[in-house]
Amino acid sequence: SPLTSPLEIGPRKVLFGWKLRDISPLLKDPVAFKALIDLLEDHLRASFPRIDVIAGLDSRGFLIGPSLAQRLGVGFVLIRKKGKLPGPTESISYALEYGKAELEIQSDAVEAGQKVVVVDDLLATGGTMRAACELLVRLKADILECLVVIELKALGGAAKLEAIPFHSLLQYD
Ligand code: PRP
Ligand code: MG
Repeated sequence: SPLTSPLEIGPRKVLFGWKLRDISPLLKDPVAFKALIDLLEDHLRASFPRIDVIAGLDSRGFLIGPSLAQRLGVGFVLIRKKGKLPGPTESISYALEYGKAELEIQSDAVEAGQKVVVVDDLLATGGTMRAACELLVRLKADILECLVVIELKALGGAAKLEAIPFHSLLQYD
């Protein structure tokens, strides 16, 4: 599809008037990348006495989640786009502004009651994060927080998460 995601330049972006936010420069600069993981780690350590698992969203959540999990000394689990994960999975279909998508998690990715932080690069409409949380709820995980680097505030995505705690490092309108 020629349509673009919230971080990419394209006609849809112009149509919706969304500003472009891209974490590539942050990742490319080793000092900035370390500072990013430091900030996320500090936030989580200050917020939660115990975390069991970091769950990351395919694909850009995978750029942040594993580094953070290593810092915290916990495991990392993948919430992937449909059709990528072997073995028994739970899947959920969700609406995007520009169509539909499906996310999956392996059925044994987390145990009931495990304390999970869900990470992604960016929250736009919140649809992706909300779908990920629904998968984790099915596995009876205890979702401590949804954590993103960038929140596009004008899209109101945090409201879509309802009662699930949410935190963003950077906010843009
Ligand atoms: C982007 C971004 C978030 C999601 C946010 O991912 O990385 O995951 O969109 O949008 P939402 O809040 O409106 O759901 P994308 O689906 O473009 O895929 P990618 O991470 O694989 O690049
Ligand atoms: Mg993404």
